Amino acid sequence: MCGIVGIAGTKDCAGAIVDALRRLEYRGYDSAGIATLVQGKIDRRRALGKLSALDAVLRDRPLPGHTGIGHTRWATHGKPSELNAHPHATDKVAIVHNGIIENFRELRAELIAKGHKFESETDSEVCAHLISQYLDEGLPPEQAAKTAIKRLEGAYALAMIFKGEEGLLIGARMGSPLAVGYGVNEAYLGSDAFALAPFTNRVSYLDDGDVVVVRGPEVKIYDVQDRPANREIKVTSASAGLVDKAGHRHYMAKEIHEQPEVIAHTLAHYLDPDARTVRLNEPRLAKALAEAMRLTISACGTAYYAGLVGKYWFEQLARLPVEIDVASELRYRQPVYPENGVALYISQSGETADTLAALRDAKAHGQVTIAIVNVPESTIAREADIALPTFAGPEIGVASTKAFTCQLSALAPLAIAAARARGHMDLATENKLCSALLGAPRHIVEFLKQESRIEHLGGEVAKARDVLYLGRGVNYPLALEGALKLKEISYIHAEGYAAGEMKHGPIALIDEKVPVIVIAPHDALYEKTVSNMQEVMARGGKVILISDKAGIAAAGAQVWQTVEVPEADPFISPLLYAVPVQTLAYYAAVAKGTDVDQPRNLAKSVTVE
Ligand code: F6R
Repeated sequence: MCGIVGIAGTKDCAGAIVDALRRLEYRGYDSAGIATLVQGKIDRRRALGKLSALDAVLRDRPLPGHTGIGHTRWATHGKPSELNAHPHATDKVAIVHNGIIENFRELRAELIAKGHKFESETDSEVCAHLISQYLDEGLPPEQAAKTAIKRLEGAYALAMIFKGEEGLLIGARMGSPLAVGYGVNEAYLGSDAFALAPFTNRVSYLDDGDVVVVRGPEVKIYDVQDRPANREIKVTSASAGLVDKAGHRHYMAKEIHEQPEVIAHTLAHYLDPDARTVRLNEPRLAKALAEAMRLTISACGTAYYAGLVGKYWFEQLARLPVEIDVASELRYRQPVYPENGVALYISQSGETADTLAALRDAKAHGQVTIAIVNVPESTIAREADIALPTFAGPEIGVASTKAFTCQLSALAPLAIAAARARGHMDLATENKLCSALLGAPRHIVEFLKQESRIEHLGGEVAKARDVLYLGRGVNYPLALEGALKLKEISYIHAEGYAAGEMKHGPIALIDEKVPVIVIAPHDALYEKTVSNMQEVMARGGKVILISDKAGIAAAGAQVWQTVEVPEADPFISPLLYAVPVQTLAYYAAVAKGTDVDQPRNLAKSVTVE
């Protein structure tokens, strides 16, 4: 959700700000803008659309200045337009904001009554006017900013510059991430370490309530009570090189193809490949799982579907009762947490606002919190009692692919560890399941060899207006994930259902125009799913069956199209079957000519609720 950058530098900084924004474009890309101090005065350039549009504006009308801020936007209040693009400014101050100011209506009314003129429909603009008001009343910039910030309700990461204050950059964090970068004679602010990587690898992360005052290279951080605060400077591993597409047409394609490698990397962290056992480097974990009365799992979107797969694994293998809900519901429905409860949160970015709030709620209710996260420096990773990393690397495509399968690659060993800790798994079974997991990358490599067939099928799916996905058991979440992937990037309406639910309503939708994608490995539930598939075909439905050799052979000739996945232990089927549903959605989107990596209305990291 919106990316922000600030530089207090020693040379013209607009180009560097654009470079950093390019690395933040995954957070939003409906408009972008930059403001700098030019001979002490605030000047800015903004443009509707992707960063390339701002680049073009800057080529026509370059922006000098050593002190500056920049923003790439994902609209919350006010449509995407140049007027609503950040930075928002008065003649005294310019600000960029990520988050939502909940009390903006009251503040705006108060400021209008005092004579302020607003030009946008955003909640963010109120920050610029409020700070300006305090400057008008005679407060120096730092005090004006701090006084204004105290009046803001909601979530924000802010960066701001002030007229006549060369080298002064002020930032604040409440609920939305903000990092400070330390350079040579320069300092920076950014939504994440990845944005700052071209400038420095020395970064500290602000806590909620912190205000940072940067004067040239000097950085002072104040906590929520305005006391000087020390935030540890970490050397980050974020790479300075912009991740490239490695010869693929889209990041999403590259990320699909990276899965064998990143899954292997993640599994290598959690499994001992020689002993074929799970290794947990966290002694607290086995104890917490052994003693847990119940496991609460929560996440959003694709990460939630990974959690849903986890529910099947934890219940079946470890006999550990699981409560699962999307974070936006869990956080507000006053869940009943058990004594000795463990709560597990799953997030690629580690910054999703709802997931973070759900984690905090569980922590406040005495649960041991575990987070499976892809960004090790993220807020969720830092706030969980136990953070379990995934090793997907930066995921740039907005539709999650490799992060999902890496989440599964961490969840499966965790479920095995829970089973062992709770006395429900012998060594032979653990060896068998670990061997199956270690084989997953090889099976995915094998599957990806038939990409041209999936490309053809994607073209067929692209002709549909509606698509249904069916799955059962541990593959039911895959049906949900398949439908989400397809709608996100191809804009085709799609729904995922538990196969057994079809006849309770959705079967009414079936006709020859609606492809039904059935995910059915030849496992214990295969016959049941195939019965549901027959019901669909009996009503003229066009079935695309995703199964293995035995499953396809047993399905009969009536099936419209088939996609063959290598035969493997049913335990790892969610890992393997994720790849065909991702690839099918990808090629449907390519056939439709949509913007695969940056689909409309979406953002990679959702830091607003
Ligand atoms: C879908 C997708 C989203 C995310 C969701 C959670 O392709 O990417 O549904 O899974 O926004 O994001 P994280 O995992 O960053 O918490």
